[in-house]
Amino acid sequence: MSAPGPGDPGTDGPVVGRGFGHGKVILVGEHAVVHGYAALAVGISTGISVEARAGSGRLSVPAWSLEATAGDGSPVGRALAAIVGRLETPGLDFQADAQIPSRAGLGSSAALAVALARAAAAATGRANDGAAIDDAVARAEAVFHGNPSGIDAAAARTGLAGTFTRADGWRPVPVLQAMTLCIGLSGRPRDTAAQVAAVGRLRERLSVAGDILTLLGRLADDARVALGKGDVDGLGRIFDAAHGLLAALRVSSPELEILVHSARAAGAVGAKLTGAGGGGAVIALAPGHERDVLARWRAAGHSGFLAQIAAAPGGGATGGPR
Ligand code: MEV
Repeated sequence: MSAPGPGDPGTDGPVVGRGFGHGKVILVGEHAVVHGYAALAVGISTGISVEARAGSGRLSVPAWSLEATAGDGSPVGRALAAIVGRLETPGLDFQADAQIPSRAGLGSSAALAVALARAAAAATGRANDGAAIDDAVARAEAVFHGNPSGIDAAAARTGLAGTFTRADGWRPVPVLQAMTLCIGLSGRPRDTAAQVAAVGRLRERLSVAGDILTLLGRLADDARVALGKGDVDGLGRIFDAAHGLLAALRVSSPELEILVHSARAAGAVGAKLTGAGGGGAVIALAPGHERDVLARWRAAGHSGFLAQIAAAPGGGATGGPR
């Protein structure tokens, strides 16, 4: 990985296709969703924009100091090869503007895959070929994460609030009242494939792990109802319960515990890890105390930002970081 240099995909030449993928936040149901239960997530308006130009399969993501070429053997290179192979677009270079951190539990790989696939499809006049784009994204996500549920890709496409199950895919859900989410970054990269595999192993060795996953799925259903009623306090309690269950599945970490507990001490009505865990991010609901939460996190050496879940009676769109 290096900064762009001579011969890297640059910004010369006409843009022939553009694509965008949303970052995502899983509110409740991570890990349970891998095992067939529902999860509740929101796509955030911040994400990754990609421009495609004539070239030879090179990708540059300056914000992550990342350079890759389709098929170069790196995970990003293999994922890029999966996308350009599926969409039959080897003659393109891609320049990505990433507004979300990588490996922070905010769906960066899915956002990048969606943005790349949309840019490649647009460059070849197939911007509306949703099936091919979805298939290309699923292949890229399989390179990154092994056996992903597909929730990150669904949220990266829609930018809405929705529930996701492996059986039924993504369903938008209503959001009665706007809510502000505090998002705190542990600074430790998470490894989704490793965390998913560890939970799978635990399930084989500890029979109640299956019950914990069932409870997480039930909490995701309860969270959907709370979102639809505008019940911020209720959703906060669900966050706390979900975090305890995720910790019981051993996917929390010392940094995530510090973030969760300091958010509660700063007035949050609920806080939990989000995404695969082991590192990555936490989310907290702290009506009227959002700035206090960010200040506590800063004092503990962690950065954070705010994202808005906008009210949307027919299925919630989200605002970006504020
Ligand atoms: C990762 O964002 C969410 C997990 O449930 C994995 C997946 O759904 O593929 C941990």
